[in-house]
Amino acid sequence: MDTSVTVLILAAGLGTRMKSKHAKVLHRAGGKSLVEHAVASALEVAPAGRIFVVTGYQAERVEALLQPMGVRFVRQQEPKGTGHAVAVCREQAGRQEGLVVVFYGDCPLITGATLRRLVEHQRGSSAALTLISTRLADPTGYGRILRGADGSVEAIVEQKAGTPEQLAIQEVNPGFYCFRAESLWKHIGELDNDNPAGEYYLTDMVQILRAAGGRVESIFHEDAQELMGINTRVELALADRALRERTARRLMLEGVTIEKPETVTIDAQVKIGPDTVIEPFARILGNTVIGEECRIGSAAILEDCTLEDRVEVAPFTVLSGSHLEREVHVGPFARLRMGCHLGQDARVGNFVEMKKTRFGAGSKAMHLAYLGDATIGAGVNIGAGTITCNYDGVAKHPTQIADGAFVGSNSTLVAPLEIGAGSYIGAGSVITKPVPEDALAVGRGRQVNKEGWAKRRRERQARRD
Ligand code: UD1
Ligand code: CA
Repeated sequence: MDTSVTVLILAAGLGTRMKSKHAKVLHRAGGKSLVEHAVASALEVAPAGRIFVVTGYQAERVEALLQPMGVRFVRQQEPKGTGHAVAVCREQAGRQEGLVVVFYGDCPLITGATLRRLVEHQRGSSAALTLISTRLADPTGYGRILRGADGSVEAIVEQKAGTPEQLAIQEVNPGFYCFRAESLWKHIGELDNDNPAGEYYLTDMVQILRAAGGRVESIFHEDAQELMGINTRVELALADRALRERTARRLMLEGVTIEKPETVTIDAQVKIGPDTVIEPFARILGNTVIGEECRIGSAAILEDCTLEDRVEVAPFTVLSGSHLEREVHVGPFARLRMGCHLGQDARVGNFVEMKKTRFGAGSKAMHLAYLGDATIGAGVNIGAGTITCNYDGVAKHPTQIADGAFVGSNSTLVAPLEIGAGSYIGAGSVITKPVPEDALAVGRGRQVNKEGWAKRRRERQARRD
């Protein structure tokens, strides 16, 4: 028998309870949208070409987001219920034999391992459907599982349709199903919307399959949190926290020290090498890759950065889209953005901002500087208060500073500009012309001392009073 797996992920609803104009599955937790998490787990049990995401509300946005994952899409024109969402897949997915896993796009915590367990059970059984069940202290909102005298699953009753006795049942349907393809496609058309919500309920398939002589089996899953569906922002925050705990735990087991892990925000796809230390409240986002033996200071924010080994990022530093080579030291209170590249052992101190700047090996900018659109060689010293004037109100211009140059404090470097290797810029200069190699450039008013002037002024003042 063909037991290859097709997955349907239902993601067409608006998600009214989110009170949002954005589709529910686009809301983010743990650094990714809910539906991206769902697809990532589905990819552990089926190839992308056999994963169908049902879209409807803001379908274009959802599809654009998932396009890179290679999955396929089925449009549900009107949200008529979860059963209808599956039914609209019949044309595209109904020719595939084997097993059909169905779950909801608002379940970001589900793991591939649990989906595999579901599939394995159905593979080893002659049932028409296997579903996951769990127990909740507060089952409100979930479909309740009704069992017969022999313990078999007889029906799922939705919150809106349940009697008080049924609603007291704590065993719930978290919404993960593995159907025999043949049974699903043969009977999906038998669903009706004869219920208080007027929706086609996928959960009614339990009774339909049983009436047709099929068996419905269940596997119990202890960890209810993993199965959680997000309906409100409160649940979104819980999921976000759980995903981050999962990431922090994985990283700690891989050898990363995380101080107060409950305070840090690390996105799922971040990679961090062993013996790196993450201090409290750090935020490490996007596709950041951090090497070994680095230190990321408190409240530092890193997004889409690459840090080689033994890099130190001191507290309150904000880095985005930048590459820091080995042993670089930045911060505290530094900001690097838009493709900065710092060479080995470079030092960047407090209140230094860099944009699109290459900063060579061993170069230093220790305090209060702005370096934008600059290419700076190795062993350069940038004095406190140095500013590249890279923008003339119309266009951006480059600044080049060659190896070993010394830029005195409070220099104003008017771009486009080239500063030669080994040259000196006198403090407080406004530099508008190229500086030759090994030259001293001074561009400031000459100092004039008027002997005794202050004393005479005080005396004049005293006579007047
Ligand atoms: C559903 C289950 C309920 C289960 C709960 C678990 C049904 C009828 N009920 O209820 O038994 O306990 O999930 O979380 O299935 N969707 C569509 N098209 C639609 C309607 C929904 O694609 O027409 C999608 C939504 O985008 C969402 C998912 O299906 O991602 C689930 O819909 P939702 O309205 O959240 O179902 P629940 O009421 O939570
Ligand atoms: Ca739900």
